[in-house]
Amino acid sequence: MVNNKNILLGVSGGIAVYKACALTSKLTQKGANVKVIMTESAASFVSPLTFQALSRNPVHIDTFDEKNPEKIAHIDLADWADIVIIAPATANIIGKLSNGIADDMLSTTLLATQAEVYVAPAMNVHMYAHPAVIQNMKQLEQWGYHFIEPGAGYLACGYVGKGRLEEPESIIKAIESHQQREAFLAGKKVLISAGPTREQIDPIRFFTNRSTGKMGFALAEAAADYGADVILVSGPVAETTTNPKINRIDVTTASEMYEAMHRHFEGQDIVIKSAAVADYRPKHVFDEKMKKQDGEWHIEMERTRDILQSLGDIKKEQYLVGFAAETTNPLEYGKKKLLKKNLDAIIINDVSSEGAGFGGDTNMVTYVNKSMKQEEVSIASKREVAEKILTFIDRDMKDEAQ
Ligand code: CTP
Repeated sequence: MVNNKNILLGVSGGIAVYKACALTSKLTQKGANVKVIMTESAASFVSPLTFQALSRNPVHIDTFDEKNPEKIAHIDLADWADIVIIAPATANIIGKLSNGIADDMLSTTLLATQAEVYVAPAMNVHMYAHPAVIQNMKQLEQWGYHFIEPGAGYLACGYVGKGRLEEPESIIKAIESHQQREAFLAGKKVLISAGPTREQIDPIRFFTNRSTGKMGFALAEAAADYGADVILVSGPVAETTTNPKINRIDVTTASEMYEAMHRHFEGQDIVIKSAAVADYRPKHVFDEKMKKQDGEWHIEMERTRDILQSLGDIKKEQYLVGFAAETTNPLEYGKKKLLKKNLDAIIINDVSSEGAGFGGDTNMVTYVNKSMKQEEVSIASKREVAEKILTFIDRDMKDEAQ
């Protein structure tokens, strides 16, 4: 799992720094690209040259010691890393990180990275049990940092108890098994539609809806982070994605979305239609701007094709998931759509409730599968809701396969 991964190892100052040397060596032997940042105090325990030799990369200590004038080192390293490991993590670096302090190369880089961070603490048994340290670790856990608990035993300070840096092999094993659990969609192909569609009236006017694509993009990002290869068919939105595992296809109209979804449908494992597709479009599109006239203007509308229904009609092995945006009787209407469109699951969105639906950064939904098993996802960020939805889908696919 660490093979070919870019691993940034943050080494803070404690006697356990010597174990970080073994960790560097074992990671590189397993095919990882390792770069090391040391704190000043870590460098008092072991020479940076040791880490440089073991990682075959320059070691960073000072934020202002810029080795390459074309790059800002702490941002460059933060972006480069797939995984960050802090080992040993002292009470000091844990305290700084949990309070957003960035006063040296390691703490600054840690604030700048979006990579998954594993923290392997090492300190005296009483320090580890101090309420401040416990509170700081809890805070970091809430923010999504992963802890590799220290072992118990004889500590360098003379005490016997918990606080000994976990052995390098165990640190790697813990990271690998976590990464494996995290990558539950590895090898899976996922097709997602997002955002609104735009139905042209004339060259400057169109019908659309309030969808911003945030939920669909959150699903795409989460699926990619879980290891899937994602195709994201998006209507016109302001959202962006730089994830290399997401192939974004931009469309404008319901008809273009229909074509794109059908073109990529075959061979997909999971298809999620979170887009808010126009049900009607103007029957005639004017080539030139319509000039205002006295009296009323009636625009004749015609039905668009229901993309989800058409996919439900032809689906074979794909696990097909729809959304239902409702303002009244959400569960009743949602379940009807699940059956009518031949879906495997539906995500019911009561768009009238506070904190849910279009535009916002949060959502709350009900996930219903085709056995009518129903699960509530209470209000959370769209990313967290996306993660829960994908976990339900994965569980149901595995249950079905049995
Ligand atoms: N959908 C679609 N193509 C359409 C309309 C809707 O693929 N032309 C999909 C949406 O992407 C969503 C699901 O159908 O996954 C439900 O969309 P929604 O707007 O809630 O419902 P409709 O099917 O349009 O039904 P109604 O207008 O009766 O609520």
